[in-house]
Amino acid sequence: MPQVVLGVGGGIAAYKVCELLRRLTESGHQVRVVPTAGALRFVGEPTWAALSGQPVATAVWDGVHEVPHVRTGQSADLVFVAPATANILAKAAAGLADDLLTNTLLTARCPVVFAPAMHTEMWEHPATRANVATLRSRGAIVLDPAEGRLTGADTGKGRLPEPAELLDAARTALRGGAADLAGRRVVISAGGTREAIDPVRFIGNHSSGKQGYALARTAAARGAEVTLLSANVALPDPAGVRVVRVGSALDLAEAVAAERAGADVVVMASAVADFRPAASVGSKIKKSGGRPAPIELTENPDILAGLVASRDEEGLAQTIVGFAAETDDVLAHGRAKLERKGCDLLVVNQVGNGRAFGTEDNQAVVLGSDGTVVEVPFGPKEDLADRVWDLVVARLA
Ligand code: CTP
Repeated sequence: MPQVVLGVGGGIAAYKVCELLRRLTESGHQVRVVPTAGALRFVGEPTWAALSGQPVATAVWDGVHEVPHVRTGQSADLVFVAPATANILAKAAAGLADDLLTNTLLTARCPVVFAPAMHTEMWEHPATRANVATLRSRGAIVLDPAEGRLTGADTGKGRLPEPAELLDAARTALRGGAADLAGRRVVISAGGTREAIDPVRFIGNHSSGKQGYALARTAAARGAEVTLLSANVALPDPAGVRVVRVGSALDLAEAVAAERAGADVVVMASAVADFRPAASVGSKIKKSGGRPAPIELTENPDILAGLVASRDEEGLAQTIVGFAAETDDVLAHGRAKLERKGCDLLVVNQVGNGRAFGTEDNQAVVLGSDGTVVEVPFGPKEDLADRVWDLVVARLA
């Protein structure tokens, strides 16, 4: 089990790090939290202890016989500091060792990631710029803060990235930072299409877009240039990803046709409506005498099957990945669907009854056109995303 030291700095964003901690432990990491004295003023020791399932060391003077100021860093596979305040960056750059976290930073020989969060002025100050440059020149990974709402009324650069993005950065650092999708263009569709019945109603589905967004974040973390075709998703835009919003299946078909040119990989993770109302009604349908008016439906194009057909016709070198949502007979339906759609990989997952839709975790079987079957056990959607990219990378090579 990878050993992670999670250093928490004294910033209000410490509250977001609780969620990162939860995600790290749930995805199979053993996490030792080392909060600074300032961090403990924002989030108390019991929270860190309960979420990590481990005692929390806060000072070099606790359990001195175990030499914690040296051991904590020596035994880590990753040290992740979030929020990395201007003060922590300065101390780390100067090599100070006046608390357990700074001692740990000096003894660690594993990858070290800093996730800075502070007000824009502090981030842009020449002193902070110089400290960041020093840390990067020594091999530390210093993430760029996100832009947006800061504490109080301020907005600007300096926000701690969202927990899902921090988790991706941690996983990438643990993998040795392999940028095995560098130089590759990938297009991913996510979410669920909405087919308008009238201006206020639609036919839709339960897709939250979480699996597609996890694919986009992990691909970006592995160095890909990512375009995310997002159908009705209420999630924050992943950092470093170009997001194109679409509504209906026809919108998505148009966006896929425009974006797939020059892409090395296309992943259809979205739930596309098979049918749409045949007539588009311009004004709200009224109840008439308590009798529902029938809605005539017409079939939408199969975008995935169309992608495969045009790739083969044009002889393009493009890896195409489909998803299959099945409620029963999952493998048999998956195999038939792979055959029918002709894609290179089909990620088959069971949906319904609270499974897959809207959840943080997923479980799937990935079927390859070459007959391979890879089972991905129940776990965070990022794990499944990374397994899919592993299989894609093997095919690209
Ligand atoms: N898909 C698509 N265009 C459609 C329907 C589905 O591109 N009109 C894609 C989905 O994005 C997914 C794959 O096809 O990658 C399978 O989707 P799914 O809904 O499981 O399959 P369907 O083709 O709708 O088949 P069925 O309704 O028989 O299960």
